Amino acid sequence: MGLRRALVKWLTPAEDAPVKHSPTLGGMPPANTPYQRPPQAAPEPIAGGLVVGTAERRLPPVELPGFYEPVPALNGAPPPAPNGAPPPALNGSPPVAPAAPEPSTRSELAAKPSAQDRQLVRDAFDIVSARADQLVLNFYAELFYALPGEALNMFPSHMTQQRHDFGRALVQWVVADDPEAMTAHLSQLGADHRKFDVEPRHYEIAGQALISAWQKLAGPAWTPVHQAAIVGSYTRLASIMIDGALQHRHEPTSWGAQVIAHQRIRRDFAVVRIQPDAPYPYKAGQYLTLELPQHRRQWRQMSIASAPRPDNTFDIHVRAIGAAGVSAALVMHTKPGDRLRLGPPRGNDLVVEPGTVPGGLLCVAAGTGAAPISAVVESILGWQEPPQLYAFVGGRTRDDIYPVDQLNQLIQAGGNSRRIQVYGVVSDDPSYHGYRGRVESLVPTLQDWARLGVDVLVAGPNPMIATTVTNLAGIGIPLGKIHFDQYEAAA
Ligand SMILES: Cc1cc2nc3c(=O)[nH]c(=O)nc-3n(C[C@H](O)[C@H](O)[C@H](O)COP(=O)(O)OP(=O)(O)OC[C@H]3O[C@@H](n4cnc5c(N)ncnc54)[C@H](O)[C@@H]3O)c2cc1C
Ligand code: HEM
Repeated sequence: MGLRRALVKWLTPAEDAPVKHSPTLGGMPPANTPYQRPPQAAPEPIAGGLVVGTAERRLPPVELPGFYEPVPALNGAPPPAPNGAPPPALNGSPPVAPAAPEPSTRSELAAKPSAQDRQLVRDAFDIVSARADQLVLNFYAELFYALPGEALNMFPSHMTQQRHDFGRALVQWVVADDPEAMTAHLSQLGADHRKFDVEPRHYEIAGQALISAWQKLAGPAWTPVHQAAIVGSYTRLASIMIDGALQHRHEPTSWGAQVIAHQRIRRDFAVVRIQPDAPYPYKAGQYLTLELPQHRRQWRQMSIASAPRPDNTFDIHVRAIGAAGVSAALVMHTKPGDRLRLGPPRGNDLVVEPGTVPGGLLCVAAGTGAAPISAVVESILGWQEPPQLYAFVGGRTRDDIYPVDQLNQLIQAGGNSRRIQVYGVVSDDPSYHGYRGRVESLVPTLQDWARLGVDVLVAGPNPMIATTVTNLAGIGIPLGKIHFDQYEAAA
């Protein structure tokens, strides 16, 4: 199985997979109980799992020399002194060290990877790819062991099987080793991590946790060359995140905000209007993360569904998934006056600046993907010279294409209906009089979009994005002109 397919297989949770609460992570106590070090008698390995046992059974942390040169603390606390001593030998075996001499500065380590570096990282992943889920679980166990008190304050108290976005993304991105393509995203993610109280020193600990988990799972197949390759790739990722955090250190780590309106459109769907306490500098097409007081440390991404307004308010469109999560709380139990916390705005791929789409814009959305597209359409309506824009919003029923009527009213009111057109596409309602079918398959057939030279924005569930991109590429639209929030989708 190719690397990409192997990754997709375990990185993409089944859509209808039941919630599997994992009370323990690789032998760790439940995350919501105070952490206690395991007893001195070394526990036996849990079937296929990790022993987070006594110190003698733990590998010494991998040294990441010179990488984390002292940098100012992000959130007040000073960084610890760098650990200069080489790791002690374990049970008489020689200390594990990369064969190649380690670069001594962060910038050297953070340099662009060579094709050989990439291949070595992939080789290291091949050793564990059949147990990639286990690698993620073991990584968390190592991390929680290394940060016993702090991790409990950072991570959600219930780490369900489905919610291992951090570990999955980390492994996936280390394996991809393509920091250049991800710089903007990683930089924003690093700035965003300040809301978890993550400081530069934590990156070193997380890197050690990852490498230790990887090494233990790989067993005898692990070599110093693999280790050096993973150290390099991790360093490249972490450096960009740390730099992003440092660049944004004068901005708030999070924004307090208030719900000022709540409109329950359907049983499972609401439009929520939010007003941050301080100016919130976002662009149409971006998303944010939010935390509710009754769901502490359960940050969820939500697309911003409106263009920036002078009163510093914006809307989000929320679809309740199940009855107990954050989305259900936002739809069913939220009212004007309620408080919440916002992370900084994120996402670059759906942001369109004036003058950058000379061939016009095609937008294809489904589900809550309609939210960022609504924001983009609203924002373009305010441009002096709006480009030609076609937006298609797909859903199963007429109710699912909620923003279409509202956007068309705005378009009419601004006298823009020749240049800007928004259509619904309905798949499961034979009585619907407009376009019928699945938006991802229908839209590519509607015009010779490639000849028009349009840029395309795609937003929606991951499978819809994948099909739309394939179908648009199939009719000759260059991949460079198709835009979607790919890293979130992958994670
Ligand atoms: C970039 C981005 C933008 C997003 N924008 C929006 C938005 O504008 N509006 C919005 O409502 N949501 C949006 N989401 C999804 C949102 O972040 C949450 O994942 C979703 O609301 C579920 O959170 P929860 O706490 O309610 O459920 P959880 O407690 O996280 O999950 C409950 C159960 O539902 C399952 N589940 C979770 N998400 C999905 C899903 N998408 N499809 C099927 N099953 C799922 C889980 O596997 C679990 O079994 C966005 C996600 C991303 C990555
Ligand atoms: C290169 C290093 C890292 C990468 C690539 C990374 C990536 C991610 C990603 C993709 C998420 C998912 C949430 C989101 O997109 O908003 C996440 C969440 C998180 N990360 Fe990181 N991260 C890194 C380092 C760290 C470190 C060093 C810490 C602290 C020790 C940390 C703590 C967290 C926490 C607490 C969450 C929220 C978890 C949850 O809600 O389930 N991360 N990280």
